Amino acid sequence: MASEGTLHSAFVDELRDTYDAEKQLTKALPRMAKAASSPELRAAFEKHLNETRTHVERLEAVFASIDEKARGKHCDGMAGIIDEGKAMMKEDLDDATMDACLIAAGQRAEHYEMAAYGTLAAWAKVMDHTEAANLLQMTLEEEKNADEKLSAIAEGGINRTAASAAHEWDGENRSTATRKKTARKVPRKGMHPSYPR
Ligand SMILES: [Fe+2]
Ligand SMILES: [Fe+2]
Repeated sequence: MASEGTLHSAFVDELRDTYDAEKQLTKALPRMAKAASSPELRAAFEKHLNETRTHVERLEAVFASIDEKARGKHCDGMAGIIDEGKAMMKEDLDDATMDACLIAAGQRAEHYEMAAYGTLAAWAKVMDHTEAANLLQMTLEEEKNADEKLSAIAEGGINRTAASAAHEWDGENRSTATRKKTARKVPRKGMHPSYPR
């Protein structure tokens, strides 16, 4: 057991937080895959779900490597990100916009994990927990790849499709607004100076 108030105890604390965050993600990712319309996006979420299950196991190996029991501590940060994602999924969005928003939600989670693993790997390294550092670095690379894959999918067409839909919608409203404005400008008979009285 690590003594309190040291970098080692902070490391164990962060590991517990991240262990819980990964477990939360194993429940959130299937919902995100189900909500995705793009087969490529769904496949990316499913692939990362499998990686996430490996991340949980890898963290158990990290705990073991420093003679600590694998135990989670509720991660409020990841819970907040997941709650926001759940609220977004209830919104009435067109398919491409929903996919773009799912990517945004997924990338928030990946960046949160990247921050956690970046810190954990650096701390493990500086404390000479070499095995732990290598395992944490491996997961960090997979989180970065997952994030890049989501960017590639978004930029490979989903964002553009969502933007086109938004512009069509705006255009319609603009023309409606213009029509209304024009209609208001049409003078009623007898009210305009150019009208014969
Ligand atoms: Fe992960
Ligand atoms: Fe991840």
